[in-house]
Amino acid sequence: MSVAQAVGEYEYTNDWFEQNVPVWDVLIPQYEPQKFLEIGSYEGRSVCYLIEKFATKGPIEIDCIDTWAGGVEHGEIKMSDVERRFDKNIAIAQSKVPNAARVTKHKTFSHIAMAELIAAGRANSFDVVYIDGSHQAPDVLSDCVMGFHLLRVGGLMICDDYVWSMEPIGSQDSLNMPKPAIDAFLNMFQRKMIMVRGAPIYQVYAAKTGA
Ligand SMILES: C[S@@+](CC[C@H](N)C(=O)[O-])C[C@H]1O[C@@H](n2cnc3c(N)ncnc32)[C@H](O)[C@@H]1O
Repeated sequence: MSVAQAVGEYEYTNDWFEQNVPVWDVLIPQYEPQKFLEIGSYEGRSVCYLIEKFATKGPIEIDCIDTWAGGVEHGEIKMSDVERRFDKNIAIAQSKVPNAARVTKHKTFSHIAMAELIAAGRANSFDVVYIDGSHQAPDVLSDCVMGFHLLRVGGLMICDDYVWSMEPIGSQDSLNMPKPAIDAFLNMFQRKMIMVRGAPIYQVYAAKTGA
């Protein structure tokens, strides 16, 4: 059972995201982002960070994809409450910034929403694609490949939970972890993606260098 805690005015039940802030603070501004795509939004903690950080400089757009049904690792969490907190937290963040921060919810599976975005002409348009949805390897591979097609050349892809596994270390199931999928994606796209050096290993940061 997760317990919601107030963080400022926000309502969150976890602090998965906070460890990323020192790296994101330095790295993401280098890509002068205005258009973000997030796969896996949960209570909106990472989206609220993006709004507070980047809608101070000018208008931004964030497309958020989530089933709001949880992943296999989320167990008994009541996801309707998670989605309600997402809506509330986003509204708070939007009220705090001087510029428009347009947030579009895509409440469906990532492969469907990303196919729809591509069909709508949004390929090669996002400055930052953040992949933090399903942690099952086949889903992560699909999110990376479709995320590649949505990312602009020169844009930044961030893959969360590179070294996360559902089972304890020593008895991992390689299909229940993001790492094999992220490795496979970067190996196959090595002429079109380059790892951004110097970042901590928990997340993988890679820039798109070719179409
Ligand atoms: C780790 S949480 C995201 C955390 C969020 N980025 C943050 O920093 O607060 C993962 C989310 O991915 C969603 N998810 C899992 N599998 C998915 C899929 N196949 N398509 C879309 N969303 C999915 C879950 O519902 C969950 O809300």
